[in-house]
Parts: sequence; C-alpha cells; structure tokens
Amino acid sequence: MSPTNPRILPYGEAAIAEAAALIRAGGCVAVPTETVYGLAADATDSRAVAGIYEAKGRPSFNPLIVHVPDLAAAELIAEFDETARSLAERFWPGPLTLVLPLRPDSGIASLVTAGLPTIAIRVPAHRAMQALLAATGKPLAAPSANASGGISPTRAEHVAASLAGRIPLVIDDGPTLAGLESTIVQGERILRPGPLTKAQLHPGEGRGPVTTSSDSGPRPSPGGITAPGQLDSHYAPSKPLRLNATQTETGEYLIGFGPIPGNETLSATANLTEGAANLFAALHRADASPAPAIAIAPIPNVGIGVAINDRLRRAAHR
Ligand code: TXA
Ligand code: MG
Repeated sequence: MSPTNPRILPYGEAAIAEAAALIRAGGCVAVPTETVYGLAADATDSRAVAGIYEAKGRPSFNPLIVHVPDLAAAELIAEFDETARSLAERFWPGPLTLVLPLRPDSGIASLVTAGLPTIAIRVPAHRAMQALLAATGKPLAAPSANASGGISPTRAEHVAASLAGRIPLVIDDGPTLAGLESTIVQGERILRPGPLTKAQLHPGEGRGPVTTSSDSGPRPSPGGITAPGQLDSHYAPSKPLRLNATQTETGEYLIGFGPIPGNETLSATANLTEGAANLFAALHRADASPAPAIAIAPIPNVGIGVAINDRLRRAAHR
C-alpha cells in the first residue's frame, strides 16, 4: 500500500483542521470514536453521504448513525420522549445510539436514514470525534470505517488496510477503548448489544421487557427496511470461524480466553471488557495469519460478553 493512500495523521490540531477542511469540501475522513473508527461525512450533504456508501461499498438500504456534540444538538434532529431523554442524560457522551423519530426540519440528508422515518443518533465520548464535530459545526454521519461486510476497525491501520485507495485521511489516536460498536436502543428494545449492557441500561428488576435481536431473532423494522442484526455476515473475516473451541483442530488459528491460551488470547484473566477491546484486532490478526481457519474459545454470555458473542455469531455465519 502506498504510504499516502490514505494518509494517517496523529490526532492533534493539524489533523483536525485538515479533516474538517475535507469534510467541508464534501469529502469523508476516518476518525476514532470510543467504540470503533468511523468514516465521517457531513450528514446534511447528500453528495458527501453518498461518498461514504461509495467508499464502503455499502448497500444503500443500510442507514447510518449520526454523531452530534451534545443532547441539545441531538434534539434539533430527533424527537425525544422522556425515556430517550433520560437514557441520553445518563449515558451521553458514550457508546449508546438511540433510534428516534426524525424531525421534519432536521436538515439530515435522506440517504443517511435510507428513507426511514427514524434516525440513529449518538453523542460520542472520544476527543477526536468531538474535536471534528466542533471544527465542522455539522452533524456527522459515520458508519464503522471498514469496507462493507468486513471486520470493524479498532486501529488506524485496520482502516488503512480495509479502505486503501478509497479515502484520503485517517486520524490516528491509537486503539479504541471499547472495541465494539455502540449499543443501539429503540424504545425498550436493544437492537444491537454493545459496550453498554442490558443491566447498565435497565438496572433492577421490573423495568419492563427488554429484548435483544439475539434473544429473539431479527425482526423487520416498522418500515420493513433492514434493521441492525439482519445482515448476518456484517462482521465477517475472510476465513471460516469456529466458536466455543476448547482446543485447536488442524489448520486453525485459535483465539483464546481465560484458561484457554490459544495462539493469542482476548484476555488471559478472563476479563470481558479487555476481551471486547481486543476482539476485532484479534480477528484481524487471525485473518492475516497463514492458518486457513480461525477458532475462538467460549466467551461467557454475561455483561459485555453478550455483545462479544453477538459479533462472533455474525462473524461465523457464512
Ligand atoms: O459505535 C458505533 O456505533 C460506530 C461508530 C463509528 O459510531 N458506528 C457504527 O455504524 O457501528 P454502522 O453504520 O456500522 O452501524 C449502524 C447500525 C446499522 O446496523 C444500521 O442498520 C443501524 O445502525 N441503523 C441506523 N439507522 C437506523 C434506524 N433508523 N433504525 C434502525 N437501525 C438503524
Ligand atoms: Mg459496521
């Protein structure tokens, strides 16, 4: 890969100024968030948003998440009820995406929502994405910065490898903290499990039913358009992936956890938060290894382990 394609600039004033100029000119730029690296463009500019779909090779029916600096900015775009406002107040900035009715005067390009009457919106906690939001003064649409169907990027070099030749710039601010995409919530439903767990969102018993798409299987959204969890191969490595492996079979690269060491481990101490942060980088390494197949040790299905297993099931589905 040519070192200038894309350019990788360390986070700082110069990188943010250059990224903001590219976005103002209608381009897209890869920028880290606390979850994964995103590919950001001006959400009010339909040509810029089309550029995201083009760079990712993403089917245009899959809508994008819009990033805004704070709750006040979000309220200009989406309609909040009390439940949504309370979740926003508790968890923003942070890895929570709310699916809410789109305001008619939002100014958001319809390509962002793929024509849905709702919008997925979040306030990121990462300094680089926040600096870019401040510098552009625009809501930024940003899906994960990988080619469609590939593994989400948790490092600048993952982005550069996946989108080489398709984007001009990656802002590098090191590995992302959470390592998994944001938890997506619509009303009482968790549409996509993520770093914020069911228990964190709804502490205590008797707070009403909460289901996840992994509890109940994919369901059509009211508009009949694809909702998260319905693209089964969304997080796929290029090789077969065997789940719940307790030992290596011939030709496998084993990703360990806890007592199972493997070729590398998500967490030797069986720490699920550490495991989530390491997951996608481990899948990238396993994919790049000479082994023709990947196996991964069992991950307990509690807390953020639910989100890890959700991503693993998708990655294993071929
Ligand atoms: O952590 C994250 O959420 C990252 C960072 C970059 O913010 N972004 C991310 O975006 O994961 P993306 O585009 O890879 O995933 C967005 C998900 C998709 O599964 C999409 O179907 C869903 O959000 N989505 C977007 N708008 C929606 C809507 N109105 N209703 C239901 N689902 C929606
Ligand atoms: Mg993605």
